[in-house]
Amino acid sequence: MIYIDSAAGPAPAAAKENTMLLRGLNHLAFITDDMTTTIRFYRDLLGMQLVAGIGHDGYRHYFFQMDVGQIAFFEYDIAKPMTSKKFHGTPTAEPIGFDHVALTVDSRADLFALKDKLEAAGIEVTGAVDHGTMWSIYFFDPHNGIPLEASWDCIEIVKTPAIEDDDPMDIAAEGADPQPGHWPEVTDPTPPEQMVAHSGNGSPMRESFLSRGLARIKPEMLEVLAAESKSAAE
Ligand SMILES: [Fe+2]
Repeated sequence: MIYIDSAAGPAPAAAKENTMLLRGLNHLAFITDDMTTTIRFYRDLLGMQLVAGIGHDGYRHYFFQMDVGQIAFFEYDIAKPMTSKKFHGTPTAEPIGFDHVALTVDSRADLFALKDKLEAAGIEVTGAVDHGTMWSIYFFDPHNGIPLEASWDCIEIVKTPAIEDDDPMDIAAEGADPQPGHWPEVTDPTPPEQMVAHSGNGSPMRESFLSRGLARIKPEMLEVLAAESKSAAE
């Protein structure tokens, strides 16, 4: 697998062919009516870092960091916690695009350390369950009702796709890698000068973060800003 180092700047389009553009969980965005209890749980019990946030016009958007990836929450008045408490993986006839979130822990000891911590906090934990490839515990975000799982990968998959299916799918047998020829090729790639973004409602906070010493601009963004101010001056 070829990874492109984003710090090295944009790679030529040709170099990105057959590479994995998606590199991991960036953030999952959830909804809450109470950011305080949410921070208390995700930061103070689950141990994620509260790394960023924006709040205005009656809502907040806050981000919690794990080693890899973030969980984000929107908070606004008319939000309601999930009430169905549909257990992880159980079938439902309701339209639903989300079942649960699984977070990775590094070791069996860490899995049980988390279980102990949750139970000490009075949160019901199901498991650990040995799924063959991973051991998992299941619990709910106590205020927002979000179904959460923590998983320790107990084996390393060395040949993919590793599938055990009593009705094997032909499409799965095609392999683990993206199969070419099923989707149109890009014939009109966005040229670099059109790789622009319009201002979102969070744009002004960048200046605030920079002036307050809370953030640093990435080199590629410096180039963008330099080009923008050059074209504004023209
Ligand atoms: Fe799961």
